[in-house]
Amino acid sequence: MGEKIKAPVEPFRIKSVEPIPTLDAATREAKIREAQFNLFKLDAESVFIDLLTDSGTNAMSAHQWAGIMEGDESYAGARSFRRFENTVQEIFRMPYILPAHQGRVAENILFSTILKPGQFVPNNTHFDTTRANTLHKGGIPIDLPVAVDGSSGEYFRGNMDVLALEKFIEDKGAENIPVIILTVTNNSVGGLPVSMENVRQTSEVCHRFGIPMFFDCARFAENSYFIKKHEPGYESRSVKEIAQEMFEYGDGAMMSAKKDGLANIGGFIATKDLELARRMRELLILVEGYATYGGLAGRDLEALAIGFEEVLAEDYLEYRTSQVAYLGSLLEGAGLPIVTPTGGHAVFVDAGEFLPHIPAEQFPGQSLAVALYRECGVRTVEIGSLMFGEGGDDAEFVPAPRELVRLAMPRRVYTNTHYEFIAEHAANVAKKKSSLKGMKILSQPKLLRHFICDLAEIG
Ligand code: F0G
Repeated sequence: MGEKIKAPVEPFRIKSVEPIPTLDAATREAKIREAQFNLFKLDAESVFIDLLTDSGTNAMSAHQWAGIMEGDESYAGARSFRRFENTVQEIFRMPYILPAHQGRVAENILFSTILKPGQFVPNNTHFDTTRANTLHKGGIPIDLPVAVDGSSGEYFRGNMDVLALEKFIEDKGAENIPVIILTVTNNSVGGLPVSMENVRQTSEVCHRFGIPMFFDCARFAENSYFIKKHEPGYESRSVKEIAQEMFEYGDGAMMSAKKDGLANIGGFIATKDLELARRMRELLILVEGYATYGGLAGRDLEALAIGFEEVLAEDYLEYRTSQVAYLGSLLEGAGLPIVTPTGGHAVFVDAGEFLPHIPAEQFPGQSLAVALYRECGVRTVEIGSLMFGEGGDDAEFVPAPRELVRLAMPRRVYTNTHYEFIAEHAANVAKKKSSLKGMKILSQPKLLRHFICDLAEIG
């Protein structure tokens, strides 16, 4: 990368505004100490610009807000569900649609239905909740991302390592692998996309061995847009057609619609398998709600049906991906090493490279995330050994593959000026980086420790 990228023009104007709190440095210091250096524990009132996640933080359009009024709140067979179902069937190309209130419930229902203890679940890279839900059912999550040099400029670094997958299935036996998952885009690998060629090849391997392939497709529109921009042969296809082709290769999909649903809550499981749908529906009714609302209000289903159409608009996706690239170039200019090329929903800073004096077991990513909050009130998230490493208490420390900090960008929420403000302050952090301190965990739960653990600074 390294080149200067222009600020993209937003293809919308602002109709409703929400004030955001400004806090002075002393207050921020008190707040981060009260939160035991865990940014999940900060009240949103203590955050100026919130880049913790792009999940459920989207701004809805005037059209979606109008849809909210149209929501049909009938318990069974609501009109809003039919609209949601039709839209999902059309884009995701699967006949059986089970609504769920968010992605992790979809994961839980799928794994509760098909996964037996001791079985393996390969994925190009599991997100934290997918990994945790697999472990929770006694399964073994396996990450098989392609190994591509970050400096190669290759776009499709989200891909599955298809040869490694084939070898893995031969080693462990297809009967021990109930499902293979393809995460599009690959959140944990910089939000980078999976190519159509890789989707096709992964699907071929899965089907040769008789194993169903499911998509984890929270960011399917961003992935489809990257295919259009960067994969030969797709330049003149619409993003919707690309998404449709991609899903044709799968047997099912689970989605956290809090991302590319352009709404604040929602998700679903889709499948081509009637018998599987029947078994999952029983559990859905037990834990989420009736089969035509699955933990959502009719108005949510309405907003999502509209969101799935809006998110495929190419002017929106051009602005969206360019804004991510713009923030990436600003941060590089400020002296922060980033994962390049930038992906669809976030900029990932390489904190391991930025803070070489802090070893992985002292969580350099967390140290940088805390420093950025102290500097300007921006909330980011560590995606490194705190989130994905193992150990603590008496267990041996196992680091994550990389020590990253993610600046996730809510859709249609912050302007280019907000991102310029962050980059100006990131430059101040870069100037004093040698004074940043490592962190240690004071207390932690067994699963998903990053959400609730307490930390302290070392020294
Ligand atoms: N799959 C992927 C790829 C995700 O990124 C997420 C959530 C989920 C599944 C779970 O969905 O939150 O609706 O239950 N990712 C959020 C994030 C939390 O910040 O990246 P959920």
